[in-house]
Amino acid sequence: MAKKNQTLGEFIIENQADFQYSSGELSRLINSIRLAAKVVNHEVNKAGLVDITGAAGEVNIQGEDQQKLDVYANDKFIQTLTNREIVCGIASEENDDFITICGQKEDHNNKYVVLIDPLDGSSNIDVNVSVGTIFSIYRRVTPMGSPVTIDDFLQEGNQQVAAGYVVYGTSTMLVYTTGHGVNGFTLNPAIGTYYLSHPNMQFPEDGNIYSINEGNYNHFPQGVKDYIKYCQNQEDGRPYTARYIGSLVSDIHRNMIKGGIYIYPKSSTSSNGKLRLLYECNPMAFIVEQAGGKASDGHQRIMDLKPTELHQRVPFFCGSKNMVEKAEEFMK
Ligand code: AHG
Ligand code: MN
Ligand code: MN
Ligand code: MN
Repeated sequence: MAKKNQTLGEFIIENQADFQYSSGELSRLINSIRLAAKVVNHEVNKAGLVDITGAAGEVNIQGEDQQKLDVYANDKFIQTLTNREIVCGIASEENDDFITICGQKEDHNNKYVVLIDPLDGSSNIDVNVSVGTIFSIYRRVTPMGSPVTIDDFLQEGNQQVAAGYVVYGTSTMLVYTTGHGVNGFTLNPAIGTYYLSHPNMQFPEDGNIYSINEGNYNHFPQGVKDYIKYCQNQEDGRPYTARYIGSLVSDIHRNMIKGGIYIYPKSSTSSNGKLRLLYECNPMAFIVEQAGGKASDGHQRIMDLKPTELHQRVPFFCGSKNMVEKAEEFMK
């Protein structure tokens, strides 16, 4: 039973049975993520004071200029996840290939793979606007005792055992699910403890916010153009309000609290949109569905798509159930 103001540590212990395989490892895995998130939070908060803003000088496999905080967050999450006997492999937005972790006994007997977007919304770092972290956790599918393979990472989203995000906003929050609803914890930075502030989060069935990068309007499919015009029409409680931060985590977090839809469609310039299926869309879809919302590629459920590549991109329609269903009608 979720109790408001319970600490995240207490909550994890009390709800251990929620984990599909409750050996305690998954609880420890969430624990290491909350620790890494605190370290990253500390650094994000100092951006502007110390030399951590701006480009790192490298380009990642997505063709994006890595920011210093992308690299810092990536290193911190990988270090924290590697130093424990739980994770056998990590895939990250910032690494071309997945990382194999053999474990301290070098026997490849760790059970879980983690897929991560260490710093989401990089373009917001230098301007003091919210950024985030997204993670997705699966049980490996290849036999224990052997190194992980790409098959352990290319699992359908419906196989996730846990997923979550951290939003480094006006306050820092960790929101996660293990398939038993969604709970949000707010960090008290003075004492470094997360408290349950948003128990059993529910995505409103309807909303009046639409979030899309309308600068790309001319390149959108006709269905998306028509849906945008629908959002702007003066009838039945419309026009909706446009809100777009440019950080998936922050945009979805806001919409989950207030009700709304987030769309990153395909376009004539990017045939699968921009967002990455494995460490952006699937984990957000798991959380959103667990809160009663919906996530699709405009036609099909995101979590039922069969991944073919680590850095695969996919169009993303995500948010209040009725709004996503309406957008899907326009896509037919
Ligand atoms: P990341 O910073 O991890 O590369 O992700 C950026 C993503 C996502 O956070 C955001 O919603 C989207 O890119 C914004 O893209 P546009 O600038 O094209 O709107
Ligand atoms: Mn990026
Ligand atoms: Mn991202
Ligand atoms: Mn990122």
